[in-house]
Parts: sequence; structure tokens; C-alpha cells
Amino acid sequence: MSDFERTRGAFTITTDPRRIDVDAVHAYLSRSYWAEQIPREIVARSIEGSLNFALLQGASQIGFARVVTDSATFAYLCDVYVLEEFRGQGLSKWLIGEMLTHPSLRGLRRFLLATRDAHGLYAQFGFAPPRNPAALMEITKPDFYKRAQGGA
Ligand SMILES: CC(C)(COP(=O)(O)OP(=O)(O)OC[C@H]1O[C@@H](n2cnc3c(N)ncnc32)[C@H](O)[C@@H]1OP(=O)(O)O)[C@@H](O)C(=O)NCCC(=O)NCCS
Repeated sequence: MSDFERTRGAFTITTDPRRIDVDAVHAYLSRSYWAEQIPREIVARSIEGSLNFALLQGASQIGFARVVTDSATFAYLCDVYVLEEFRGQGLSKWLIGEMLTHPSLRGLRRFLLATRDAHGLYAQFGFAPPRNPAALMEITKPDFYKRAQGGA
């Protein structure tokens, strides 16, 4: 599929794999609350297997989101961030809104995500708590990478 690109002033959203900065994603995720201390090699592998959206200012990556999807029925949104100095100007709303127009992500039966405190962001795009939480099951490993490094 051809790459997806949107621009707004100095900012660009792109799915072009050549413009995804794995080091920048790793630098943020390794200090995030959900993937603290994640190894770079695992970030690189996750990006290889995902539909990735880089948020750029010029050539510099200042935000990111990735979607794990079969491009037909299901998707899982994860690793959404905007760097601290660029927050509060609507960039994540722009990123999520544009992402949802991607051809691979239209007409899906289920779109999941997990968040600690950003429900109000995603609610603006139709995400809601599971209608039937009892129907969902998971295997989850809190502090997975921290423990692997002997940090927790
Ligand atoms: C969450 C995050 C991506 C928001 O980025 P941003 O570009 O500053 O956000 P925007 O300016 O587009 O505005 C976000 C909107 O969601 C709302 N919101 C709800 N929960 C929020 C939260 N926890 N953090 C930030 N915004 C939140 C804001 O109030 C705002 O709504 P409004 O402007 O319509 O009132 C950014 O704060 C971030 O990277 N946080 C750390 C990583 C993180 O928590 N990522 C989400 C993991 S699920």
C-alpha cells in the first residue's frame, strides 16, 4: 500500500517506513509508564510488525502511534505519544483523527486500546469502555521490561 501522508504547517504525519525514527521511539518508550526499559531490539521488531504513524516537525520525529492490525476486521492502537514540549496544541488529536482515516483502518469490527488516563482523548473519536468487559480476557505482564532488567 502506498504511504499515507498529511501535513499541517510545519508538522507531518507519515506512514513511510523510511521516515520512522526507531531511536526516537525507543528513547520515549523506554521512559514511558507502559514500556519502561523496553530494549531497542523489541521496539524495532514491534515497528516492523505494525502500521506506524510518525509525527514529524520538519525531519524530526516528535510523536508516534502504531496500530497492530489485520487491515480487515481488527486493530489495536498502542505506543501513542507526543514529546513534552509539543503537547497541548492538538497534535495528538490530529494524529488520532488522521490515523482513523487510513484505508487499512476503516470498516473494522473491533478497534481496541489500553490507557491509564487518556480516556478523554480517545473518547473524542468514539472509543468507549468495553460494552461487555466480562467478554474480554488478557494476558498482561506489568513492568515486564523493568523486571527483565532486574529493575523491579
Ligand atoms: C496523551 C498525549 C499523547 C496527548 O498529546 P497532546 O498533543 O498534548 O494532546 P492534544 O493537545 O491533542 O489534546 C488532547 C486532548 O485529550 C484530552 N486528554 C484526556 N486525557 C488526557 C491525558 N491523559 N493527557 C493529555 N490529554 C488528555 C485533553 O484534554 C485534550 O482535549 P481537548 O483539547 O479537546 O480538551 C500526550 O500528553 C502524551 O504523550 N502523554 C504521555 C504518553 C501517554 O500517556 N500516551 C497515551 C497512552 S494511551
